[in-house]
Amino acid sequence: MTLLPKDRPVPVPVSPSFLWGAATSPHQVEGNNTASDLWALENAPGSPLPDRSGDACDSYHRWREDLDLVCDLGLNAYRFGIEWARVEPVPGHLSRAALAHYRRMIEGCLERGLTPVVTLHHFTSPAWFRHGGGWTGPDGIQRFTDYVRAVRPILDGVPWVCTINEPNMLAMVAARLRHDAPDLVAGALPPPDQGLADALVAAHHAARAELADLDGTASGWTVANQTFQALPGAEAVTEEWAWSRENQFLDAARADDFIGVQAYTRVVIGPDGPVPTDPAARRTQTGWEFYPEALEYAVRHTAGRIPVPILVTENGIATADDGERREYTQRALAGLGRAVADGVDVRGYLHWSLLDNYEWGSWAHTFGLVAVDRQTFRRTVKPSAHWYSDVARSSRLPDDR
Ligand code: BGC
Repeated sequence: MTLLPKDRPVPVPVSPSFLWGAATSPHQVEGNNTASDLWALENAPGSPLPDRSGDACDSYHRWREDLDLVCDLGLNAYRFGIEWARVEPVPGHLSRAALAHYRRMIEGCLERGLTPVVTLHHFTSPAWFRHGGGWTGPDGIQRFTDYVRAVRPILDGVPWVCTINEPNMLAMVAARLRHDAPDLVAGALPPPDQGLADALVAAHHAARAELADLDGTASGWTVANQTFQALPGAEAVTEEWAWSRENQFLDAARADDFIGVQAYTRVVIGPDGPVPTDPAARRTQTGWEFYPEALEYAVRHTAGRIPVPILVTENGIATADDGERREYTQRALAGLGRAVADGVDVRGYLHWSLLDNYEWGSWAHTFGLVAVDRQTFRRTVKPSAHWYSDVARSSRLPDDR
């Protein structure tokens, strides 16, 4: 992998329609997602997860405040999700109140001039779905399609819909849990069960078909770009490694309206597989290598693989040092600028995350532009958010110096 020398005109201007935003997911911010599979796992006796989501950031009630924060920062887009377990807590019984809630959120975005980017499935499913066999169960794909059909009427006016978030991560984590696979090198996961990968692709295509005649709505899915980098001589191994864990999910999006790119760090591959990160390397709170250039690599890789417009639907860093968040984001955006200057079709950047939220089992990893007091839910905007706000208002992807 070669990153281009820093000889591009900087900062790189972007079009006025470029989305500058921040992202969240329902389970991570809403609180009390009691009908979901993850809630069941978090609250099971002897749960392997150290922390419960509990009230999370109480965004189910405080979403107006969250939208106002995004607006006040001068951003123009907000990515959030609709929670299937709230819309259909019992199979076949839809909650009209939950649908009305999410419609109010969509209208809340539109009223504030924010472009809503709506995710239909972000890791969590209703507990009943999992008990019934999940995606590979006898009626898994049909169940998801029915849910998408139920949600469709409230999506009027939503320009960007993500069907399933990080199907590759879902399938790899499931493979690890199911087969009790050993922990590989940090950041590397076992290949997904191919049956589950195929079911997710089929569910995505069925969801896209459901949404096809929604006027003005682009649909796609978001893929965890893992930035697999081959050491000399390990190109073939890397290709094999990347195909099952990432590229097959990109290929499945070839006919989509857009592809969501999500990038955080990299995995270096040698002839025997992933190479442990240098113990001296700088790491983030999650233990991942500090590698902001992952975003540039990810958008170039994606653009080279499928001819589909790119929306960066996630990128960010878990750190307690907000100066480090700024440094990471500045370098990531500078890399994005180099790719854009070279003609990669990028339509927007949605920072992960708006809030310090529930990081899948832990409250210790803080990705937010905005801190949230765990007792009072009071939001405090961090300096990095003000810096990002200035970048967004300038309509330019910054230099990294
Ligand atoms: C997920 C987010 C998660 C983030 C940081 C992505 O895999 O979509 O839900 O919080 O990465 O780990």
